[in-house]
Amino acid sequence: MTTVAVPVRAGAHAYPSATPTPVRLALLGVGQVGGALAALVARPPLSHQFHVESGLVRDLARERPGAEHLQLTANLRHALGGQPQPQIVIEALGGIEPALTLVLTALERGIPVVTANKSLLAAHGDVLIDAAGRAGVPLRYEAAVLAGVPFLGTFARRALARDITGFCGIVNGTTNFMLSRMAAGRTGFAEALAEAQRKGYAEPDPANDVNGVDAVEKLAVLLRHFGDWSVRTQDVDAQGIAAIEGDDLAAAVEFGGTLKSIVAADWREGSLSAFSGPSFLSDSHPLARVNGVQNAVSLRNRLSGDLFFAGAGAGPDVTAATLLDDAAEMCGETPRAEAPRTWKRATPSAPATGWFVRVSGDRLPADTSIADLCSAYGVWLRRTSEPRGDAPGRRWFLTHPCAPSQIADALRALESAAGCDTFRARILEA
Ligand SMILES: NC(=O)c1ccc[n+]([C@@H]2O[C@H](COP(=O)([O-])OP(=O)(O)OC[C@H]3O[C@@H](n4cnc5c(N)ncnc54)[C@H](OP(=O)(O)O)[C@@H]3O)[C@@H](O)[C@H]2O)c1
Repeated sequence: MTTVAVPVRAGAHAYPSATPTPVRLALLGVGQVGGALAALVARPPLSHQFHVESGLVRDLARERPGAEHLQLTANLRHALGGQPQPQIVIEALGGIEPALTLVLTALERGIPVVTANKSLLAAHGDVLIDAAGRAGVPLRYEAAVLAGVPFLGTFARRALARDITGFCGIVNGTTNFMLSRMAAGRTGFAEALAEAQRKGYAEPDPANDVNGVDAVEKLAVLLRHFGDWSVRTQDVDAQGIAAIEGDDLAAAVEFGGTLKSIVAADWREGSLSAFSGPSFLSDSHPLARVNGVQNAVSLRNRLSGDLFFAGAGAGPDVTAATLLDDAAEMCGETPRAEAPRTWKRATPSAPATGWFVRVSGDRLPADTSIADLCSAYGVWLRRTSEPRGDAPGRRWFLTHPCAPSQIADALRALESAAGCDTFRARILEA
């Protein structure tokens, strides 16, 4: 792939002009991200380089501050513009349909596509990347994971840097903000969520963030990008953060760490293991220091060790800027058909790890009795919390590594023997 470097001039927010006339864009979706992009492109100097010819929306009557100048359509047949056809399609619709049909149609017509849509890529990335390769047309999705941090494209032209054997990361800003607030302020889950919504970090319906759907979709995008793995999100061992309570964060501090919502994968031995969900990290882990709405990914490179990328994970303005950078890079590319990739379809195994465990109930057994019961299932405790006056009826443990089935069996037996409730999160070793 031949590319022309298109650095942004300091202070000017402009690209060296690749073409004498503005590049014609078709914008699919003029919501938060599409609206921010339209507003960015409307102002000089970017207005000399890009022109949004049409914007696809559902509701033509809705007010769209900053995007009033756009020619809008709600007709899918007009979404990809007329003749001459747009030079680049920017997909900012979200979800699967009509995004899938429109992106495939654009690629088949030879129009390069930029998207920020992790749901689409997680579910249909194989089909889309193959269609782009067949047509010899670029498909870029830098904004789909860590939207404000350009790192996915970096690896396209660097085979040795791209020799990745696993990764771990924090890829959802809403839940990272909530867990950071719960750790810092001893607030509960509901207060942290309400604060995230007040500050505009969480959607009015935060379900996909809180129940882990957003994170596992990004995990699937990263697996395909760095390992050619094709996984179904429903096959990944994934949990949300709704069961975490403020006391759990305090107990994690007592154990010298914190709880974060993590995605992780490993394929060093040729087979794939992966998980997504709340995890205990010791304070020395690089991801333990990633707080608030920040996101980060640590990639394990076979030759050079860990590569760490961190920064803004979302936000309409940063996402729009990343989409436009993708579009600008495409302007210098020479179309070239590529052989179809060989996707490795897999059901990831859930790795054996240590576990952070909370046990709560009115009449908890002594720690030694809990340890004895767990050991009968191959689960060995490595630390127990000090009794706390402010959390009577609650104890926390760290275990040595064991299979998910072993900890599940041990805790089920404990719940039934002692009439208690339990919660567990994985331990992510540094
Ligand atoms: N928001 C962020 O910070 C962020 C960050 C990274 C990635 N992303 C990704 O960017 C994409 C867009 O996110 P967003 O936050 O901008 O979403 P949004 O505010 O809900 O905007 C979606 C836009 O698509 C239009 N649309 C949706 N379904 C349509 C349909 N069937 N026909 C025609 N138009 C349709 C909507 O039209 P109406 O306006 O008429 O409803 C709206 O303009 C998603 O893939 C998201 O995951 C977002």
